[in-house]
Amino acid sequence: MKPSIGIIGLGYVGLPLALALAEKHTVLGYDTNKERVASLQKGVDNTKEIPTEEIQAVSIHFFDQPQALKHCSIYIVTVPTPLKEDNLPDFSYLESASTIIAQLLKIGDIVVYESTVYPGATEEICLPLLEVSSLKVDIDFSLGYSPERINVGDPHNTFKTIPKIVSASNKDALETLYTLYQSVLSAEVYKAPSIKVAEAAKVIENVQRDVNIALVNELAMMFKSFKIDIHEVLNAASTKWNFLNFRPGLVGGHCIGIDPYYLAHKSISMGYKPEILFSARKINEEIPNFVLKDLIQKLSFHKIKTSKAKVLFLGITFKENTSDIRNSKALSLALGLKKTCKNILIYDPYFKGEDLNIEFEFTSNLPEEQKFDVLVLAVAHSLFSKIKPLTLLSKVGFVYDIKAVFEPHEKIYRL
Ligand SMILES: NC(=O)c1ccc[n+]([C@@H]2O[C@H](COP(=O)([O-])OP(=O)(O)OC[C@H]3O[C@@H](n4cnc5c(N)ncnc54)[C@H](O)[C@@H]3O)[C@@H](O)[C@H]2O)c1
Repeated sequence: MKPSIGIIGLGYVGLPLALALAEKHTVLGYDTNKERVASLQKGVDNTKEIPTEEIQAVSIHFFDQPQALKHCSIYIVTVPTPLKEDNLPDFSYLESASTIIAQLLKIGDIVVYESTVYPGATEEICLPLLEVSSLKVDIDFSLGYSPERINVGDPHNTFKTIPKIVSASNKDALETLYTLYQSVLSAEVYKAPSIKVAEAAKVIENVQRDVNIALVNELAMMFKSFKIDIHEVLNAASTKWNFLNFRPGLVGGHCIGIDPYYLAHKSISMGYKPEILFSARKINEEIPNFVLKDLIQKLSFHKIKTSKAKVLFLGITFKENTSDIRNSKALSLALGLKKTCKNILIYDPYFKGEDLNIEFEFTSNLPEEQKFDVLVLAVAHSLFSKIKPLTLLSKVGFVYDIKAVFEPHEKIYRL
C-alpha cells in the first residue's frame, strides 16, 4: 500500500513540498495557524509564492487539527527554527511538532525533519520527544532528516530542481525516503551517511554564504573610503575563473542571518567559539547602519535637510522577488532612516504594508511624476531593473542604489 504523507507546517517550505508530493502521493497538510489553513483550503497562499491554480491542481487536504493526520505513515516536519532574543536557537516549534507527532506515532512510521538545525539537534532534541510515545526508534519507527534548500522568489531553482539530501536512522528508512523524494524530483537525491552529516551540510551552506557576503561587505566598506566602487572591482576580479562572484548587500531573512547562530551555539556548547562565523555575522548585521550613515552624509553633501528630505524607498522585503518581510534588513534600514527622515514613501510590488505594525506610507505604483530628494533602492526585485533612473533623476535629487541595479551615473551612489 502507498504511504499517506503528513506535512507538519505549511509555510514557505511546507507548502511547495506538500504540493509536489501530492502529485504522486496521498498528502495531508497540518498547520497550527488556523487562518493559513482556512486560506489554503480555498486555494489561496497568502505568502503569494504559489498561485491558486497550482494549489488546486492537486488533490490535497489541509487541516488545523493534528488528529486528521493519524493514518499517515510518513510525517514530514517543516516548522520554523528562529532565534530567541539572545540569538540562541528557538526549538519551541520543533518541540511542539514532535510532541504532536508522538501522539500520532504508530509502528512502522517514519518521521522526517526538514527544518534547519545544528548537527545533532534532530536526534538530541526531537527524538526524545517522539519516544515519549513509548515507541523506540529503529525498533518501532524510523527517523529521517532531509534539509530543505529552496530559494524563495527564485523561479529557476525550485523544490523539484534542487538536489535533495536525505538521511535516516536506518537503511530501510533511507531507501524509502530516497524513493519518495526521487519520485517527485527531477534533480538528484543524495543519500547522506548520517542524520548529523545532513544537518551539518545544510547549515554550512548558509554559513558559507554568510561568510562570503560578509567579506564583500567588508571590502565595500573599505573601498568606500578609498573612493573605489566595489561593484567595478568585483566585475574586474570576476574575470578570473576561480574568483567567487559574491555581491555586497543587506543580509536578512530567516536562513542566512539565522542558521550560523545555530551552528555557533552547538560549537560553543562543545567548547569551541567560532571566530570567522561570528565576525561575518557582525559585519553583515552592521550593513544597515553603515548604509544609513552613508546616506545621511550624502543628504548633507547635497545640502538636503534630513528632517525635511522626501525619500522614495524601493523594496522592503528581506530579499528580491518575495513578499517575505521576516528579519528584513531593508526594513531595519527604513526604520533607522525614519528616525530622522519623516517623509518616506515605500514602493514594493511584493509587499504593500499589510500586517506591518509600523507607520510607513506605501504606494502601489511607482510615483514617476512626484519629486523626491532621494531614491533608495534596497532590494533588487526584478521589476526594479525596468525602472529608468535617468528619467527619474530629473525629479530625484540623488539615488542610493544598494544593490547596484542601475547603470553608474554621477547622481547614483552605491554601497
Ligand atoms: N523559507 C525558506 O526559504 C527556507 C529555505 C530552506 C530552509 N528553510 C527552513 O525550513 C523551516 C521552515 O521555514 P519556513 O520558511 O517554511 O517557515 P514558515 O514560518 O514560512 O512556515 C512554518 C509553518 O509552520 C507552522 N507551525 C509552527 N509550529 C507548528 C506546529 N507545531 N505544528 C504545525 N505547524 C506549525 C507555522 O504556522 C507556519 O505556517 C525552517 O527551519 C527554515 O530555516 C526555510
